[in-house]
Amino acid sequence: MSAKKSPKIQKDHSAELTAVHKPSKEFSKKARIPSMAAYEKLYKHSIDKPEKFWASEAKELTWQKPFSKVLDWKAPDAKWFVGGKINVAENCVDRHALGSRANKAAIIWEGEPGDKRTITYAQLHREVCKFANVLLARGVKSKDRVLIYMPMIPEAAVAMLACARIGAVHNVVFGGFASEAILDRLEDSGATAIVTADGGWRRGKVVALKPTVDEALKKYGKVTNIFVVNRTGNDVSMKSGRDHWWHEEMENASAKHEPKGFDSEHPLFILYTSGSTGKPKGILHTSGGYLTGTYATCKYIFDMRDEDVYWCTADVGWITGHSYIVYGPMANGVTQVMYEGAPNQPDFGRFWKMIEEHRVTIFYTAPTAIRAFIKAGDEFPDKHDLSSLRLLGSVGEPINPEAWHWYYNKIGGGNCPIVDTWWQTETGAILISPIPGATPCIPGTATRPFFGIDVAILDDEGKECPPEVQGRLVIRKPWPSMTRTIYGDKARFKKTYFADYPGLYTAGDGAKRDKKGNFWIIGRLDDVLNVSGHRLGTAEIESALVAHPAVAESAAVGRPHDLKGQAVAVFVSLKLGYEASPELESELRNHVGKVIGAIAKPDDIHFTPALPKTRSGKIIRRLLKELVTTGTISGNVTTLEDMSVIDHLKSLLAK
Ligand code: WTA
Repeated sequence: MSAKKSPKIQKDHSAELTAVHKPSKEFSKKARIPSMAAYEKLYKHSIDKPEKFWASEAKELTWQKPFSKVLDWKAPDAKWFVGGKINVAENCVDRHALGSRANKAAIIWEGEPGDKRTITYAQLHREVCKFANVLLARGVKSKDRVLIYMPMIPEAAVAMLACARIGAVHNVVFGGFASEAILDRLEDSGATAIVTADGGWRRGKVVALKPTVDEALKKYGKVTNIFVVNRTGNDVSMKSGRDHWWHEEMENASAKHEPKGFDSEHPLFILYTSGSTGKPKGILHTSGGYLTGTYATCKYIFDMRDEDVYWCTADVGWITGHSYIVYGPMANGVTQVMYEGAPNQPDFGRFWKMIEEHRVTIFYTAPTAIRAFIKAGDEFPDKHDLSSLRLLGSVGEPINPEAWHWYYNKIGGGNCPIVDTWWQTETGAILISPIPGATPCIPGTATRPFFGIDVAILDDEGKECPPEVQGRLVIRKPWPSMTRTIYGDKARFKKTYFADYPGLYTAGDGAKRDKKGNFWIIGRLDDVLNVSGHRLGTAEIESALVAHPAVAESAAVGRPHDLKGQAVAVFVSLKLGYEASPELESELRNHVGKVIGAIAKPDDIHFTPALPKTRSGKIIRRLLKELVTTGTISGNVTTLEDMSVIDHLKSLLAK
């Protein structure tokens, strides 16, 4: 197909958009799973005997004490690799650093301004051991919670691995989140130490980080140590006795540290994600199972090899950065590229220039980024030699066929399989994806389940939906990297994931399966938006808005957006004495940015005297969603308490 056609023209008709792309013979020949027959065979084995399959994957890792039982499962509680003792950092670092990969690059890093560092596995080992000793010397112990708020610099990975090494539980908070989001997470996790930086580079500017931490700490007193990397040189205040410069602490720290084995179920990290209430959920992952899941998916889905140069463009603040920058790839001993800044710095050619320069072979990014690149124009990738690439990946939201084809042709040169990987913060690792040497790729579907993953689509009664009928996506068998709980809230964990169908994990996504067995993910079924591949709870945005003195009530909904997938539209009714104005609109937008972070800033703010409600006072978001999506309301309005609201809302959008 011609990559020159505009995506718009292709949109409606082209058969090419649903074309099946089989992996090339050359790719398949070298791949671990070289054919669909091989996939089917291993998949059948993994479903018939999941414990056998997962145990053999787990045994490829280094255990300080072997596990005596593979699985202890009483829904919703899973224990994997029972009795085993493992050190996650030893698996990600020491195994390579003390072996034949000692002088192999672990991280090839570029800062946004263009500064570069290459860190070998031996050097990474030294850094991780040193920082582990720094943490210990400052009194950080096993199971203590450490909040990490960092730019995309190698020290972020070092901090995570050092926590893992000493059994401390890290909670990485995305560097774009605001101080109140940090405060929420500090309070919920009870963290006592923080690792941060003075700032990071983003879009040509310094984004200050330490001052944002200081702001959060005005209302939280339990932090006794803050380690601050000197990255940008911006002015920061350092509280004596509590705040320490990273480089000063590291200078005299010993590079010797023996990794202790922790129980397989030892908590590894908490990562907060949005749910359907205003309070983000602290998703807890543990050690042996999580590492096995991320290790095995990297091996089969990214087909990682010693000669690969892998690049995942996610931020370590999201689950993708945890599983597919730090733990999975490093457990495989791969060389990876890490980049600090924005994709358009200094221009939209940055990624392609880096792929050419570092000879990247596997590239993993998000549909929202691909759409931004399409918009920026072909001249950027056209300037660069991308022939080193052999495999592409996509994550975060369904990839629309137009983006898929551009990615396939323009970036992959028409000969790189695209693994469209479906998974969640809660699942820890990829659960549905093509296996690149085997599965024929079809734009828009994540295709088939990974080994050991038993996926089904159920209707409201719990019956399996026939092909092509949409239902709820569930996982019927436990898998090693599944979340073990919502930190501090087992009841919410059970209710959110295991209550719809007893004993089965409900993902919260709608999906259908085609006749060939491919899974098509439709999107979230709950009040969670997917903005640029990031999960945002409508309730979080609403609670930020009502915290503003002018706002009486608000409702947030998603509407389709060309680049971001979904945009945030909010309806706001004001308190008496306040009037709608462009100034108030921008004030509210900034207010949400200040409470949650810039990613949550509403795209559209509609002022309305009233919101559509049921007689019992529940806001009917369904109608608002229809309104912002189609411009009108034709759905069922019989439950509405006040019909005149609808006419008002319609006229609002007609303006
Ligand atoms: C969505 C990101 C379609 C989905 C790893 C899921 C996807 C949510 C895909 C999890 C995909 C992720 N195709 N939808 N390949 N990948 N999603 O926790 O709605 O940030 O429930 O994890 O993103 O988002 P999270």
